[in-house]
Amino acid sequence: MTRRNFLQKGLFVASAIIEANAFVGKEIERFFEKYYHEYRNDILLNKKFLPIPKTAYYRYEGEYKVFDMHIQESLHPFFAGEMTKTYGINSSYLGETIVIKPDEKIKVNYINHLKEPTTMHGHGMHVPAHMDGAVHQVINPASMWSAIFEVKQGAATNWYHPHLMGETARQVYKGLAGLIIIEDDKSNLPREYGIDDIPLIIQERRFAFNQIDYSPSRREIMHGYTGGELVVNGSIAPKFQASTRFLRLRLLNGSNASIFHIRFKNNEKFYLIAGDNSYLPQATKTTSLFLSPAERAEIVVDLQGLEDNSLYLIDSLSKKEILKIIVDKSLNQNSFEPNNLIELEQIPKPRKTRIFRFGMRRMQFTINNKSMDMNRIDEFINLDEPEEWIIENPMNMAHNFHMHATHFRVIERNGSKERVMPWERGYKDTVFLAPGDKVKIQVIMRDFASATDPYMYHCHFLEHEDNGMMGQFVVI
Ligand code: C2O
Ligand code: CU
Ligand code: CU
Repeated sequence: MTRRNFLQKGLFVASAIIEANAFVGKEIERFFEKYYHEYRNDILLNKKFLPIPKTAYYRYEGEYKVFDMHIQESLHPFFAGEMTKTYGINSSYLGETIVIKPDEKIKVNYINHLKEPTTMHGHGMHVPAHMDGAVHQVINPASMWSAIFEVKQGAATNWYHPHLMGETARQVYKGLAGLIIIEDDKSNLPREYGIDDIPLIIQERRFAFNQIDYSPSRREIMHGYTGGELVVNGSIAPKFQASTRFLRLRLLNGSNASIFHIRFKNNEKFYLIAGDNSYLPQATKTTSLFLSPAERAEIVVDLQGLEDNSLYLIDSLSKKEILKIIVDKSLNQNSFEPNNLIELEQIPKPRKTRIFRFGMRRMQFTINNKSMDMNRIDEFINLDEPEEWIIENPMNMAHNFHMHATHFRVIERNGSKERVMPWERGYKDTVFLAPGDKVKIQVIMRDFASATDPYMYHCHFLEHEDNGMMGQFVVI
C-alpha cells in the first residue's frame, strides 16, 4: 500500500509555529495572572463554577472557515495547592469547542507544540479518510496538519482527540480532547452556548500528589484504566447556575474506560433528545442513561418548579457527583419543542453481512482473531451498498465498537429490537457491548472512496484500542 508521505510527516509551516509559540506564552501568562487566582479562590471557598470550554476563534481563507488549534503542554488548577501538568488545545486542559454548520467548508490547523508526535481525529466526522486524523496522519513536534473538509452531516455533538498508534490512551488522559459541535438552525431547542446549552465532558481521572497519574498495570490495561476523580470540563465537582427554564446538556463520556450511569440524585425526569451523531427521532422522557467511553447524548431538563433549589447530576456506578445545578430564583423563559427533531432514513435491505468478534490472543486484544496492523487492510467495503454488521462480545469484560467514516443505526441488541436503548435510536458511531452481548448495526458508506487511505474501527476503551483491538477498512 502506498502511504501519503507528506501527510505522515506533516507540513512544517514556520510562520505559524513562531506565531503559535508567542500565542502559547501569552495565554499561559494571562491565565496565571487572572484566571488562576480567581479559580484558586473558588476552589478554596468550594464555590467552583463549571468551566465552559471557549468556542474556538475562526477566520476565513476564501470560502474556508479556518481554525488554528495549538496542541500544547500546560498547567491546570485541578486543586487549590498546586498546579497539575497537563496537555491542552488552545487551553490548559481539554480543547476549545469547534463550532461548524452543515455545508460549510472547514480547515482545522492542528499545530503540535508537544515534544512528542500526535494525531488529531474528528470523532463522528464524516470526512475523507486522509482527513480523518487517525493513525496515519501523524503530526510531528513543531509541525502542523490540517483537516480540510466540507460538513456533510447534520447537527451533532462530535469531538476531537489524538489517535496515535499505541499512545492514544495516555495522550487523551493528559487532556487532549475537545468538542466539535455541528449546529443547525433549530430554534425550538435551547441553543445559547454556555447559557442554556451546556457541554459536559465527563472523565474519570486519577491523581497522585495532585498530578495526573497514568500508570496502568498489565491488569489495568486488560480491564481499562478507571477510577479516581470525576472531572467535568476540567473541574472536579463543579457547580452551574441555571437561569433558564429549559437546560440542554451535551454529555460526552471522555473517559478512557469508565462507564457512566447518569441520572439526577432525586430521579428528576429529563428529555433525551440526541445520541452520538444525531437527534433522536422521538425525544423520550426518562430518568437515566448509560454512556460508555466516547458515547454522547443530549438531554433537556425542565427546571420549572425547581426555582431556588439545587439538582445533582450523578454517576450512579461510581456514586460520584458530576454537576450541581443551582437553579435561579426566577427563570427566563426559553423554548423547547421536543417533537420532529429528525427524520431518519429508511433502513434498506442489507446486501452483505460482516461479523466482528472481540477476543484476545497472546495477551493482545483482537477483533476477528487479529490485532491491529497498520499495514494490513481488514475489510473492503463497497461505496453505497447497505450492510449489516454483527458485533459480538463473547468475553467476560465490557467493550464498545466505534467506526470511522460514517454513522450507523443500531438495529438489534441480543436479538431484540426492544433492547436497543432509547439513546441508541438515532445515528450512532459508538455502541456499547456488555459481556456476552451481540449487537446488529446497519451501515452504508457514502461519498468517500479510496483504495489506499484506510479508516479505523475499534473498541473505544482506549487501553484496548492501544493494545490491538482495532482494524482498518477501505471504501472502494
Ligand atoms: Cu474516538 Cu477512532 O476514535
Ligand atoms: Cu472516531
Ligand atoms: Cu474493549
